[in-house]
Amino acid sequence: MTIKACIKHYAKELKDVTHIPNKEVEILILHLLQQNVIWLHLNSHEEFNQENELAKLVKKRATHFPLEYLIEKASFYGENFIVKQNVLIPRPETELLVENAFNILKEIQNPKLVEVGVGSGIISVMLAKLLPTINIVAVDINEDALALAEQNAINHDVKDRIKFIKSDLLSKVQGEFDMCISNPPYIADDYKLPTNVKFEPSNALFGGSIGDELLKELIIQVDQRKIPYLLCEMGYDQKKPLEEYLKAFSCESVDFYQDYEKFDRGFTIKFKI
Ligand SMILES: C[S@@+](CC[C@H](N)C(=O)[O-])C[C@H]1O[C@@H](n2cnc3c(N)ncnc32)[C@H](O)[C@@H]1O
Repeated sequence: MTIKACIKHYAKELKDVTHIPNKEVEILILHLLQQNVIWLHLNSHEEFNQENELAKLVKKRATHFPLEYLIEKASFYGENFIVKQNVLIPRPETELLVENAFNILKEIQNPKLVEVGVGSGIISVMLAKLLPTINIVAVDINEDALALAEQNAINHDVKDRIKFIKSDLLSKVQGEFDMCISNPPYIADDYKLPTNVKFEPSNALFGGSIGDELLKELIIQVDQRKIPYLLCEMGYDQKKPLEEYLKAFSCESVDFYQDYEKFDRGFTIKFKI
């Protein structure tokens, strides 16, 4: 079959898992051939010699297995990152968290940042790319995540400014920081996940029986460590309980933000130090 015919044929198998089946088959073909979209458009009438491999990938994708895990790649903030199973796939709304952090950190000389729950490394790596004088400590409880984040830091040439540590929240972190940033697990343990998300690691998603337990513990630890700023992503229904919870803390300001779909999605706290 030609490449064009393969796309048409295999897209049918993906019509129930994605609203862009043709595009996804194209992406899988490009992954197998290690080529780009321009090449594909110029060569779509060529014979495709890796149909067996493609059929296997399409079959797996038809089970809702995420495309990003199949091609081991995801785009974030316009950059390519490696992704691997057992580490969360980057979500576009996390770009807003990076943006908020950047706007504060760019005003601080030689800023020091700690990230809790580094995952694939997207937040720390992007901030290191955007801020040439920043130094970062990035922690996770998942060793696969730490190894992947380190690989992404090497690929983006920022490894010398990020120290990776295995730590439960800030328990193993030493030193002083201007900011703590985190996209922690914040989903309630009994929440029924969509099929595709079930392939992602549960310790990256579930934050406790209510969901905001880790966020609340992090607020305590950042306040105790006298870190001036805490920026976090959170669940769409956690603004009210967190506003209530924060009344017990001495904050100069608390600003919540919404994601691209207008759901409450995170906050910036400035503690009174
Ligand atoms: C929602 S993912 C975020 C990953 C990445 N920062 C991103 O935005 O794509 C949460 C991460 O927190 C890590 N994590 C979960 N509990 C933790 C804890 N108690 N201490 C440190 N990291 C934790 C998970 O392993 C996971 O990598």
